[in-house]
Amino acid sequence: MNKTKKLFLSCILILGIFNSGARAQDINFNDAWKFYNAEVEDAEKVAFNDTEWRHLDLPHDWAIEGPFDVKYNARAGGLPFHGTGWYRKHFKIDPNTKGKVVRIEFEGAMYDAHVWINGQFIGNRPYGYIGFEFDISKYLKYDGSDNVIAVRLKPEDLSSRWYPGAGLYRSVWLKIDNPVHVRQWGTYITTPTVTKTLAVVQNETVIENKGNNDIKVNVKQEYFSPEGKLVTSVDETISVSANASSTSALFCNIDNPQRWDTDTPNLYDVVTTVTQNGNVVDTYKSRIGLRSIRYTKDGFFLNGKLVRFNGVCLHHDNGALGAAVYRRADERKLQIMKRMGVNAIRTSHNPPSRELLELCDELGLMVQDEAFDVWKMQKVPNGYNKYFDAWGERDLKDMILRDRNHPSIVMWSIGNEIIEQKDKRNGWKVAKRLNDYCKEIDPTRPTSAGFNHYSGPYDNNMAQQVDIAGVNYKPTRYSNIRNKYPELAIVGSETSSCTSSRGVYHLPIEKYKTHASKHVTSYDLIGPVWAYPPDIEFHFQEQNPHVMGEFVWTGFDYLGEPTPYGGRDNSTNGYWNDDWPSHSSYFGTVDLCGFPKDRFYLYQSQWTTKPMIHLLPHWNWKGMEGKNIPVYCYTNCDSAELFVNGKSMGRRVKGKDLTELKVDFLRYEPKTFKSKYRLSWEVPYESGNIKVVGYKDGKAIQEKQIFTAGKPAKINLSVDRSMIKSDGEDLAYVTVRIEDKNGNLCPDADNLVSFSVKGVGELLAVDNGNQTSLESFQADHRKAFSGMCLAILKSSEKSGEIKLIAKSKKLKSSQITIQTK
Ligand code: GAL
Repeated sequence: MNKTKKLFLSCILILGIFNSGARAQDINFNDAWKFYNAEVEDAEKVAFNDTEWRHLDLPHDWAIEGPFDVKYNARAGGLPFHGTGWYRKHFKIDPNTKGKVVRIEFEGAMYDAHVWINGQFIGNRPYGYIGFEFDISKYLKYDGSDNVIAVRLKPEDLSSRWYPGAGLYRSVWLKIDNPVHVRQWGTYITTPTVTKTLAVVQNETVIENKGNNDIKVNVKQEYFSPEGKLVTSVDETISVSANASSTSALFCNIDNPQRWDTDTPNLYDVVTTVTQNGNVVDTYKSRIGLRSIRYTKDGFFLNGKLVRFNGVCLHHDNGALGAAVYRRADERKLQIMKRMGVNAIRTSHNPPSRELLELCDELGLMVQDEAFDVWKMQKVPNGYNKYFDAWGERDLKDMILRDRNHPSIVMWSIGNEIIEQKDKRNGWKVAKRLNDYCKEIDPTRPTSAGFNHYSGPYDNNMAQQVDIAGVNYKPTRYSNIRNKYPELAIVGSETSSCTSSRGVYHLPIEKYKTHASKHVTSYDLIGPVWAYPPDIEFHFQEQNPHVMGEFVWTGFDYLGEPTPYGGRDNSTNGYWNDDWPSHSSYFGTVDLCGFPKDRFYLYQSQWTTKPMIHLLPHWNWKGMEGKNIPVYCYTNCDSAELFVNGKSMGRRVKGKDLTELKVDFLRYEPKTFKSKYRLSWEVPYESGNIKVVGYKDGKAIQEKQIFTAGKPAKINLSVDRSMIKSDGEDLAYVTVRIEDKNGNLCPDADNLVSFSVKGVGELLAVDNGNQTSLESFQADHRKAFSGMCLAILKSSEKSGEIKLIAKSKKLKSSQITIQTK
């Protein structure tokens, strides 16, 4: 082992990072594909007639187009994601390309991709979440005639525990290189030392030589500050044998580094220039952050400071857009989570999009990058377990090779709730093997895995194979684990799993398992048997400061897994359709549209310090006059006073006045929990308004008021950004509210809203966050749910204006204009 590697392996884990390589010469290959959604013979052949096939651009998720149907598994979203999909693309290659190396890269293809070029089979890749590339140089026609790439995808029924999407849902690239070039994901930039005054950066770059001669090349690494100023440059000359590769390893120092941190996510650009005989043969860009990470059994340290993970688990879909990757959709998702106080994301349970990781770098979010939901032992009949033996090592290593330059990633997860936990004899061996692969590709980050059993994986030595054991849903066990395994570092890798439907309240408050409405009350109490209100996790985290924090299940609602509805595997053969039309998750702190549920504010009250106050429920309880309504307040103020129509209902002090919650999750004996995290009142209903005033240090600093809304009268539109890019990809999210004449949200309104668009954009999708709605995401109309719905607009490549007009019977219509540039 060389000195560098030893350095990496030291228990102080420090690194810097950059993005997956981007080069000016890479050609985005997303445009002008043809698509056919069924099995068809000979579709790989050049002469195949595809003129009748549908024309489309990527990213594309065929399943999100619907329709929802009870014949599809609600567990996977009730959408037609399984079956065969063929994609073909015709393209010409410049004759001057002959002699170069041409590769095609798929950032992800769902699922089981088989790829042909000009009728020649060039390879396959089963795992839908992993990126891969093929060298296609020798299969291409360079005479100016047509080349055809054909891709067959075959997602299977009963292959996923959630909605996976289907199709070429991430970007495709054509990469044309000189025979001498930087390998795919060919740079590995780490920072063995980062202090306030000095960053030592090491850059290992792999140079491939596809030529038949041994050569010498000069490899130069230039580092640019966040402001774009060249801060340092180093170079060396290395030899690369014919048809082989060599690694350049160059250290450099950066004085007074602008460190990457969650508050100051500074990023440096690294430009790698490869020169052969005085000619530049490749230029490769990477983006890195200079930061140190370190963990002990008592905590996680970023740049030497103890940080707790205020994290959320996120699935990859973006609601109405399905699995198709839009940078803005990922960005908005993360911005909403940041507003809640989130500082970390767990990419449950698979490698995420490149865009998501780039955005986490830019926004200062720490990431647990997770590889698998299953190894060899099955969870669902057609799951990844079928492929694990053949592909597990490659998929895990490729995830790390792709992702290891991202400063945001602070740990790798080798799996979630892996069934091998039960395998006393061999489970730990598989964990050890996977852990070793991680260390081989990136010894600078700790490893983790999510364990939902207690005490099996701790006793059978499986949890000890990773650096940081992830504990799923066992807050009452944190102290047992500490007592029995005092050296083990742990994190709450999946917590709470509380469920709710935005804006829905069922009275009186009761702790039911399911409700006839197929919704879940937003009093933030209800979940499946293993779940518990957020308050309980807050409490046990406080009691066990050695736990590194938590990752809430989940930040956003997602498609599929409509727990507590749907059924259980053993009663339904894996089909969760017993409570159709429930087909999407209730776990999110925000709904599928990204509209906050009440729980969002409970986390915000715990995770943020800027004064905030939130009040629930709504105040439209006609017929309940004189009956007691529970009113909850989530705030980070010291105390709060509630007023009903101006009359004080008393002041409640945080930490002193407790709210009793019914709980009945596994192994929690008391059956009630007295929460200091929420304030509450029981007040007799009278229409009018409720107001809560928050006090800090005796001063009234926050206030929230809810009025009894009158009849729906008008539509109110607001947009997340009034100026977007005219790049054909950027999105504007328009929130639609049904209001009474005074501008109050009508909390039960379900009016049908129809949309029309004028100008340089299109209506991409609509949604309302209702987990039971079977309306299409791709329609030009949507019913409101709890008074709200969403329209997502996409720009075109023309600058100008997009105007959205929203109409509904008997309501005053509304319009909004978005500029694109
Ligand atoms: C966990 C699992 C997640 C999700 C969650 C729902 O056990 O890891 O993927 O299913 O339960 O509560």
